Amino acid sequence: MNYKELVDKENIPKHIGIIMDGNGRWAKKRGLPRSMGHKAGSDKVVEIVESCYNLGIKALTLYAFSTENWKRPSDEISKLMELLIFYVKTQLAKIKKNNIKINVLGDYTKFPDKVVSEITKALNETSENDKMILNIALNYGGQQEIVRATKNIISDLNNNIITLDDINTDSFKKYLYTFESPDLDLLIRPSGELRVSNFLLYQLAYSEFYFSDVLWPDFDENELCKAIYDFQSRDRRFGGL
Ligand code: FPP
Repeated sequence: MNYKELVDKENIPKHIGIIMDGNGRWAKKRGLPRSMGHKAGSDKVVEIVESCYNLGIKALTLYAFSTENWKRPSDEISKLMELLIFYVKTQLAKIKKNNIKINVLGDYTKFPDKVVSEITKALNETSENDKMILNIALNYGGQQEIVRATKNIISDLNNNIITLDDINTDSFKKYLYTFESPDLDLLIRPSGELRVSNFLLYQLAYSEFYFSDVLWPDFDENELCKAIYDFQSRDRRFGGL
């Protein structure tokens, strides 16, 4: 089915989050090393960012490296770092041309110097862009994000920048990494796993969930449109009737 044709262009989710999962299984199925799965996965990042941009999505948040991913073998971590550098190096010009702003969720300064410098460059050179936000979660955990926000709120409170009455569910959002993105409409998790894995815990409050058995390296524009088409059939009540 051609889902791109079926999607209602007037009802596109403003903010999509994706847990990019299944790179390892994709490689294993083909008798390839896991690193090849990550390479194929990073090629999909290029395709899906472009598709989101063309569909007019305002924010895309990609889970690229979690706080738990440090437990992986060091050569796999190095490969992921290499892919990140490669992605920024090869895509930055296009991202700038398309007026996309890159934003990082998580403490990426814990990454190797080369990664930190490439990412910092990308952040600086896209900071004024406003057509779309590409949030990349790097060394990210949703619980850690909430704790960080809480600490920053307490610090602002102690410094009399805010009062206790200023703290509410909306103002809390300003302390999250996604403060510039619209509310998360749709969470996509490919590869058949049915869990949230510490991703965007606060932001997920009223998101629609879409799980797919397709592995991330096979998740193409048509799969994205299938998820959006499914999203468009949902009755979103936000707690109302
Ligand atoms: C999960 O698959 C995927 C990751 C931990 C990394 C995601 C990274 C990329 C797609 C590439 C780099 C990112 C960018 C933004 C260029 P898995 O290894 O857990 O797969 P498995 O569950 O099948 O083993």
